[in-house]
Amino acid sequence: MGTGTHGECIMISSPPALLKQKVQAELEFTNDIVEFFSGRRAGHLSKWLYSNPQFEGDKVLGTETWRRGIEEAKRGGDYYVFLKEKSVIQNAIPRLKDVFSRKLRMIDLGPGSEEAMRDKIMPFVQAYTPNVVEYVGVDVSRDTLVMAKKEVLAAGLPMEARSLERDFIQDSFFYGDRVSREVAVIFGLTLCNMTIDPRVPGLPSKLLTSYFQRLKSHFSARERFLMVTQDVNQDPESLKRAYEAFSDHYMRLLYRIQRDTPVTSGFDPEGFRLEVDYFKDTQACALCFVPKKNMSFSIEDEAFALRKDQRLYFHNAFKFDVQTFLSAARTAGFDVVQSVEEKENPCILHVLKPRVM
Ligand SMILES: C[S@@+](CC[C@H](N)C(=O)[O-])C[C@H]1O[C@@H](n2cnc3c(N)ncnc32)[C@H](O)[C@@H]1O
Repeated sequence: MGTGTHGECIMISSPPALLKQKVQAELEFTNDIVEFFSGRRAGHLSKWLYSNPQFEGDKVLGTETWRRGIEEAKRGGDYYVFLKEKSVIQNAIPRLKDVFSRKLRMIDLGPGSEEAMRDKIMPFVQAYTPNVVEYVGVDVSRDTLVMAKKEVLAAGLPMEARSLERDFIQDSFFYGDRVSREVAVIFGLTLCNMTIDPRVPGLPSKLLTSYFQRLKSHFSARERFLMVTQDVNQDPESLKRAYEAFSDHYMRLLYRIQRDTPVTSGFDPEGFRLEVDYFKDTQACALCFVPKKNMSFSIEDEAFALRKDQRLYFHNAFKFDVQTFLSAARTAGFDVVQSVEEKENPCILHVLKPRVM
């Protein structure tokens, strides 16, 4: 099965097609890394963070370290986002009877982890069975898609499960046909992991609008809903503590650079530390790798000289205020159907609906 643009599943790829996809992904990864170290781009490495080992002793464990971090967060660690977001999502489920009132396709944009599936997605499916007749996971990570489909099928409910191996911001595709209502969800604050330099004023809200427009473009059913969560915490100290708790997860990307790009030996994946900055002007919580020493290396034909203490921004978690967030959604053509908030919870769930033109 190929990888065309109209709602295909990823399930059965022939070995040559699989190899081609793998080679393409590695080329794209190398290109993103070259752009990153050259300083031509920043904040664009989020989608490469969830990685898997390929041999015994491989330290490329992005997915596993994310899972461990979530376990720690559940035990009351500093990363408040998981529990707070889960709380507002679960509180929202009984309030969304209208959205789930008829047969629909539920689309999960970036399923992420088993925990996220069990705590944020399956509760909707179970609460509104048999109305959720189809689950579609969309992710750039094939392993994640396999996991998500397995989770859904394990519930033994009367529904189909499909996967789309796509970048939901960069690629053009449709979720499928046959169903007249689609409810897309983007949880885990993924929408705010915008792939830009976090220090450029004015850019984040414009880009957020274009991200909303991209999500709108994938719908094909007559009735369309988008559920999205946001985190409005703008306290720099608490953000620093929360995101530093995931250092082990983020630092694994450096091993992936060593494994999956033709980087020369001057690159030392252990020669960096992780730091978290909050930029009030852009509302960006921005993560950077900071070299602990000067480092010189090359990738393909390009040579790099990193300076000790240089800040290399690779991943953002924007913390927009509600007004900025919803104004971007409205500019992109969505109406706000409902917002669910809780006391002392910085995470909010919004239900949006594309405006009929
Ligand atoms: C932060 S995790 C969120 C996971 C989960 N939804 C949750 O609530 O915790 C992001 C997930 O989205 C995927 N992802 C991130 N950006 C993506 C993109 N542009 N296109 C497709 N998948 C993407 C990642 O591979 C990962 O599975």
